[in-house]
Amino acid sequence: MQNTQQRRVAFVTGASRGIGQAVAVGLAQAGYDVVITDLARQEADLRKTAGLITALDRKAYTYLADVSKKDEVDATVQAALRDAGRIDVLVNNAGILKLSLLQDLDEATWDAHFDVNVKGVLLMCQAIVPHMRARKSGRVINIASIAGRQGVANQGHYAATKSAVITLTRVLAQEAGMDGITVNAICPGIILTEMGRNNLGSDEAVRHWEEVAALKRLGTPEDIVGPVCFFASEQSAFVTGQALNVCGGIYFH
Ligand SMILES: NC(=O)c1ccc[n+]([C@@H]2O[C@H](COP(=O)([O-])OP(=O)(O)OC[C@H]3O[C@@H](n4cnc5c(N)ncnc54)[C@H](O)[C@@H]3O)[C@@H](O)[C@H]2O)c1
Repeated sequence: MQNTQQRRVAFVTGASRGIGQAVAVGLAQAGYDVVITDLARQEADLRKTAGLITALDRKAYTYLADVSKKDEVDATVQAALRDAGRIDVLVNNAGILKLSLLQDLDEATWDAHFDVNVKGVLLMCQAIVPHMRARKSGRVINIASIAGRQGVANQGHYAATKSAVITLTRVLAQEAGMDGITVNAICPGIILTEMGRNNLGSDEAVRHWEEVAALKRLGTPEDIVGPVCFFASEQSAFVTGQALNVCGGIYFH
């Protein structure tokens, strides 16, 4: 068991499945108690994530919230601080992707992507960073995408949100660094989650991208855990404002 001084708490959004679930469980494996959140419709799966965390002898604090709704974000963060006592690491993972050509993109789809992928990150940071500032310590890790660096056909709106996340990461790093807070982004490549498979669409596309990748495979959600733990570590205190590609070698810039 950790003593009170060593106990660290991570907060992961979109933790019911995919990358968010793997990161929440991976952080528990690394010794963190974990606050996990997701949409109300994901409650059953979110409880499964909680079970995986408690099986590791770590505490799981479970809340339902839509990251794009300020009242839900604020209430959840307040409840988490009351129940868990502190938040050392925030992982902004919740995100959506619906494919569309820019020409065909409807306004509601554009707005939904910016509400969840960009405003969700902002609202979470606005709710949690003041607590980190008060303690003069914190780690914010935003899950962006290589789409935000490269731009990808059929994903213009999504890629634009992820470019925005990389920019918010750099700006918040500058605005919060004086209080001992680091802010970094991870840019996954193609990770075989529900989102990743929907994105590729066919087994043929999977095989194509496996061939393109330097490592000759696509990613698993667990591939994101190590980079998150690196940014979360107290020993990474001098790394801030960075965006790290985690893509098995399909993109190099
Ligand atoms: N899978 C990939 O290939 C890939 C590549 C690059 C980046 N990413 C990013 O990684 C993150 C996780 O993706 P994933 O592949 O695990 O996707 P996923 O669809 O499997 O999981 C996304 C999670 O976010 C939750 N979520 C969606 N909208 C929400 C909202 N408004 N409020 C709270 N939670 C919400 C979902 O319920 C789900 O649990 C996303 O930000 C995604 O953009 C994924």
